[in-house]
Amino acid sequence: MIVNSKELLETAKKNKIAIPQFNINNLEWAKYILEECNLNNSPVIIGVSQKTVEYMGGYKVVSSLIKELDSEMKLKIPVVIHLDHGKNFEECKNAIDSGFTSVMIDTSSLPLDENIEETKKVVEYAEKYTVTVEAEIGSIGNNVNLYTNLEEAIKFVKETNIDSLAPAIGSVHGIYKEKILLDIDLCQKISKETNLPLVLHGGSGIDELNLKDVVNAGISKININTELQIVWANAVKKYLIENGTEYDPRKIISSGEKEIKRVIKEKIDILINKTKI
Ligand code: 13P
Repeated sequence: MIVNSKELLETAKKNKIAIPQFNINNLEWAKYILEECNLNNSPVIIGVSQKTVEYMGGYKVVSSLIKELDSEMKLKIPVVIHLDHGKNFEECKNAIDSGFTSVMIDTSSLPLDENIEETKKVVEYAEKYTVTVEAEIGSIGNNVNLYTNLEEAIKFVKETNIDSLAPAIGSVHGIYKEKILLDIDLCQKISKETNLPLVLHGGSGIDELNLKDVVNAGISKININTELQIVWANAVKKYLIENGTEYDPRKIISSGEKEIKRVIKEKIDILINKTKI
């Protein structure tokens, strides 16, 4: 069932669990993610970056693809179609007009007042279509992190009326080059003061204990991309070394399926079932 993220994230917040967002790259990834989440009875947020939208042929293609898979596969889980890091109002509007059920507006590099203005515009538009809006404050970079200021976060949430907030608490996108140091205390304070479901970006490579701590501190959604790409790429490389004459793309691409699904199951056990900890 295709839904927005409102109820999912609010329930997750209440129950101190986190809904996984897995980013897709192509049809196969969407299929693997949906199959494994459905098998494990886990709600899922399908994250699609602007670059992936372009790569896959546009917003309508992506949105129709997920909707058709949902229908063909007779999924019994809630599925959110989410734009990851929408750069401006126009991109978010495109996603909404094409049937995405959730968008992230990321104008966090702008001065606070401009970030508020751009985010408000998206919220006002999204409301008409019951699409949920996530926004970022502070800067979650690629191994650069500008931690969120608590007072600014409070002002931002109050003035924008967003549904979920991505604070910068020490996680980074991509591979961690240094020891992961998450500011759990800051996360807790932002959660308490804003009373919104919080989102952790850069979820790849974060160990179980850190994941457990952030979820207990108010994180209700965790974004994972790089980790799936790495295990998939390693599996495909191994397959090609062992099967040097293979040329069927279906076989080559799906040689990474098992590994993607293994990591998805592992994350579900930590974030949803809490059986790992
Ligand atoms: P990773 O690629 O580090 O998992 O981050 C994903 C993410 O935050 C997408 O918004």
